[in-house]
Amino acid sequence: MIFSLYQMEGMKPHTIVYIAQSLDGYIADSDGNIDWLEAIPNPNGDMMGYDVLMQDVDAIIMGRGTYETVLAFDIDWPYQIPVYVLSSKLKTVPEHLSSKVFLLNGKLDFILSTLSKKGYQGLYIDGGKTIQSFLAEDLIDELRITTLPILLGGGSSLFGTLENRLAWDHVTTSVYLDQLVQSHYRRKRES
Ligand SMILES: NC(=O)c1ccc[n+]([C@@H]2O[C@H](COP(=O)([O-])OP(=O)(O)OC[C@H]3O[C@@H](n4cnc5c(N)ncnc54)[C@H](OP(=O)(O)O)[C@@H]3O)[C@@H](O)[C@H]2O)c1
Repeated sequence: MIFSLYQMEGMKPHTIVYIAQSLDGYIADSDGNIDWLEAIPNPNGDMMGYDVLMQDVDAIIMGRGTYETVLAFDIDWPYQIPVYVLSSKLKTVPEHLSSKVFLLNGKLDFILSTLSKKGYQGLYIDGGKTIQSFLAEDLIDELRITTLPILLGGGSSLFGTLENRLAWDHVTTSVYLDQLVQSHYRRKRES
């Protein structure tokens, strides 16, 4: 793989995937629903590592599909850090989000170097196709994957095909609510 200059200089922001999947590896069911993510009672509001994630990142890169899913929830905007939405179709964001949501479009190298120049050091990468495209270019440094005990039988897969194998070191595994298994992996790269 040919690394661009900002990668060689170690300036690439650290990229983290934090996502939930079904036991059979889907992030949304075949109707695009994610209601099953809320099926396990969480009476004490366990953050399940989300609070730690927010300490490790200073911006979010989100695919348009996920952004539109969040907008459709019709809740207050849930993110406290800037969200960069990847889209070739969207041209504007709603007025009330204009200081919180920014549109980006283009090759991932360009997107990462743009955010690097803005000073971001840790990026939360969210969205099915977005995660797959980052992985296809070996641009993810950490995976934090929560597996729920449900078989959906179909839907949107977390992972897609890759030209090359990507090896990871296991960092830690935690169990939340006696039901959810969250495993952290760090990309194992040749030095
Ligand atoms: N289980 C979970 O924890 C979890 C988390 C997040 C999302 N989800 C679910 O996953 C589904 C959404 O995933 P998705 O498959 O729609 O993927 P997505 O990554 O959210 O959105 C894909 C879109 O992002 C844009 N995009 C991606 N890379 C781009 C690039 N380099 N340049 C420009 N635009 C780019 C494209 O939009 P344009 O067509 O506008 O170019 C593409 O169609 C939803 O059902 C959501 O609810 C689940």
